[in-house]
Amino acid sequence: MNKILIIPKYIVTADKNGAILKNHIVEISDDKISNIKPLEEKEVKEFEGEVVHAENLTLIPGFVQTHIHLCQTLFRGLADDLELLDWLQQRIFPYENAHDAGSLRLSAKLGLNELIKSGTTTIMDMGTLRHQEIIFEELDKSGIRAFAGKCMMDENELFTPFKSSTKDELRYTYDLAKEFHQDNGRIKYGFAPRFVLSCSEELLIGAKEMMGEFGGSLYHTHSSENRSECAVVRKKHNKDNIEYFDSLNLLNDRTVLAHWIHVNDNEMKILKDKGSKVAHCPSSNLKLGSGVAQIPKYLQEGISVSLGADGAPCNNNLNIFNEMRLASLIQKPLHGPTAMNAETIFRMATIEGAKALNIGKETGSIETGKKADLVLLNLDTPFQSLSNGEDNIYSNIVYSASKDNIVSVMIDGKMVLNGGESPIYDDLELFDAGRTELKKLIKRSQN
Ligand code: GUN
Ligand code: FE
Repeated sequence: MNKILIIPKYIVTADKNGAILKNHIVEISDDKISNIKPLEEKEVKEFEGEVVHAENLTLIPGFVQTHIHLCQTLFRGLADDLELLDWLQQRIFPYENAHDAGSLRLSAKLGLNELIKSGTTTIMDMGTLRHQEIIFEELDKSGIRAFAGKCMMDENELFTPFKSSTKDELRYTYDLAKEFHQDNGRIKYGFAPRFVLSCSEELLIGAKEMMGEFGGSLYHTHSSENRSECAVVRKKHNKDNIEYFDSLNLLNDRTVLAHWIHVNDNEMKILKDKGSKVAHCPSSNLKLGSGVAQIPKYLQEGISVSLGADGAPCNNNLNIFNEMRLASLIQKPLHGPTAMNAETIFRMATIEGAKALNIGKETGSIETGKKADLVLLNLDTPFQSLSNGEDNIYSNIVYSASKDNIVSVMIDGKMVLNGGESPIYDDLELFDAGRTELKKLIKRSQN
């Protein structure tokens, strides 16, 4: 058995009481947290295993992001200042359509490197049309905990070459789930019909029906993001997004909807009754000019809200510190300065994210028996509050910290970032290989 003992300055547990522990240690046995107890020098001396001295660092649960597109990392900076449907039509669909296995691999690696180096330990990813097995391979190698699935598209009026037949989409999806979904493992399938405008009814329903065979899988789609998107959905189906999904019986507590900005009261009621979850993407919603989601209202209604950076070309970062800060700040002019306080946001980025993915018993907080998905932060810097005790630890993390404060990251009991060093990724190598792949991809997209 592999045993590790971490001795941090503070432990921000994100447990149900929001406990912050001082003078405590965390013991890890293989992939799990096996004990959290008061620090005793004698026990540390006699510990048979690796001791991580982190007396100046703060231990927090790894962050959970419930909406990511690894396949788009390569396109960062190549689709700025556009609104959703133009962004998809002019840039993202043509680029995704030009992916081959090599470019998709680099895109996934670049995204995973960025996510892990900025403290994210669990993601829900939406893939692209083709070569999804590459993403699963890279998820596996990275060590991250993930839900993932190919994006499903059997309709596409914006860019017609980028879709495939209903039958092929369903078959490919089923084969991928059969091969890569792990009932009790780190990687699970997230069925991902892209959005209403890329899917026939048969595809939306077919994806839902498959879930029965894959315990713990999820249904992951985009919804109610942009006014033009909503108008086309209404024109096509005579219903708004959620009303349409509900009419097809697609909504339950295994459904995660990204964005969810433009919604009516009836849709809010439906989502609440069905227990479906919202993946809130504040940076993306602002950058694409999509709007500001009424998050305080959703929370008041008891709707689950978690955070996601979405993709690199609509953000243009994947690090969750930006999402935490914005998720709080954008609501304050609308709902007052007490809305979305730092602790609420921190929980949204950790335990609430895990619960949204129905793995709240497994990860998202630091508790005995849970997976060792942990991050060590250095909050003793000139860029944090100088009064850096328990009282303002959430403020320090949510309002002041950034990816630069991350020291080490552990997933499933394995160090995936150790003192700032990745045992897996070399930044320069990724940068060079990524640029080469991007050049080739742009050329292919112009043919
Ligand atoms: N709606 C459909 N596809 C996408 C996508 O790739 N990103 C975002 N933000 N919205 C979408
Ligand atoms: Fe998205």
